[in-house]
Amino acid sequence: MSGTGTPRPLTARKSPPLKGAAAVPGDKSISHRALILGALTIGRTEVRGLLEGEDVLGTGRAMQAFGAQVERHGPGEWSIEGVGVGGFAEPADVIDCGNAGTGVRLIMGAMATTPITATFTGDASLRKRPMGRVTDPLALFGAQAFGRSGGRLPMTIVGAENPVPVRYVSPVPSAQVKSAVLLAGLNAPGQTVLIEAEATRDHSERMLAGFGAEIVTEVTDEGRMITLTGQPELKPQKIDVPRDPSSAAFPVCAALLVEGSQVLVPNIGLNPTRAGLFTTLVDMGADITFENARSEGGEPAADLRVRFGPLKGIDVPPERAASMIDEYPILAALAATAEGNTVMRGIKELRVKESDRIDAMARGLEACGVSLEEGEDYLIIHGRGPGSVAGGATVATHLDHRIAMSFLCLGMASLKPITIDDLGAIATSFPDFVPLMEGLGAVFHAGNG
Ligand code: S3P
Repeated sequence: MSGTGTPRPLTARKSPPLKGAAAVPGDKSISHRALILGALTIGRTEVRGLLEGEDVLGTGRAMQAFGAQVERHGPGEWSIEGVGVGGFAEPADVIDCGNAGTGVRLIMGAMATTPITATFTGDASLRKRPMGRVTDPLALFGAQAFGRSGGRLPMTIVGAENPVPVRYVSPVPSAQVKSAVLLAGLNAPGQTVLIEAEATRDHSERMLAGFGAEIVTEVTDEGRMITLTGQPELKPQKIDVPRDPSSAAFPVCAALLVEGSQVLVPNIGLNPTRAGLFTTLVDMGADITFENARSEGGEPAADLRVRFGPLKGIDVPPERAASMIDEYPILAALAATAEGNTVMRGIKELRVKESDRIDAMARGLEACGVSLEEGEDYLIIHGRGPGSVAGGATVATHLDHRIAMSFLCLGMASLKPITIDDLGAIATSFPDFVPLMEGLGAVFHAGNG
């Protein structure tokens, strides 16, 4: 689990042009869902390309605690012998989801309509994050939640004895909330309806349909309306997990930070509900080509070729936020080297991620000599062009993998080195980040300065 043990600082310094191919790991969102839906299916689901990061491994252990058999057969190759919808057993111990908001919220949904009790906890970051956004709708199914003040972990969920289907209009643009409701709806009789005003990542809908659930999405005046018919018999699947666009964002943006770089990032999932960063980079003038467009495991995918070139600051359309919500930290770092202002609005959700990402980026960038404006739901970076970031600072990462990786990428292109206070959290989503970036030419060394 991240957040334990001695902090391990890491320093990134000005690096030569990045060259080569970056094989980034499997998609974190899809990996969590493959394990959970596999566990809710009778029979053997086989997964290739699973992300073996701490977050996902925690979900695998949790599925075992609920009675599924989860086995590793080789790198990224896993099988799940599931127990069927409504078949979860009561875990014998507390479920520790580590740093994983997706893990804990989806698992709470998956068990909330089964008459069992489970207690959840996580690391210091996860214990600060709000769970009311999922326990509110889960209460409508008949589940009860007993947590710390503010709806924080540790928290016990008592699953509904006689679950009823729910119609829920999500008050937040959150795929985790949507997915928790849909997973709970699996074991409620009748139709569960979830309405979201803004389209968030749709991996749960795609995968539920792939497992044979009856699920329909319609566009209505209220937004996207998803109707799931409860108590289906899910059919075991073979799942090829595409590579994670949110992890690809780091080598892609590093190539746009370090002058003279040219990098290939093969086989990246480009689901439109996830690909907003790449659209934004193209709007900023980035030289990115999308090669060999194809479908991987029911998700669109392509190889990304990126060449360094000057970028201009833009206004990122707020309606694009959900499709790039995890990419604002690295975009903020990159924007510091663009010409002019990059305006990011409608990003309030960043305040409740693994850290308060608006604050973490603002403080870190200021320490590196970048000027910016910040508000409750916006961040404006004043870019001064390539090679303009002073660096020479140690940045607090707050147990947040994306803050850690963003500042390491910025340090590869700043005048003085940038140190992150702890690299531990990177293992949650991208365990091989350091060797992979070093393979492209990044210059890192352990410790400060
Ligand atoms: C995720 C949804 C997003 C995202 C997270 C993964 C998912 O969170 O930030 O990294 O897999 O459903 P929210 O649902 O809180 O927006």
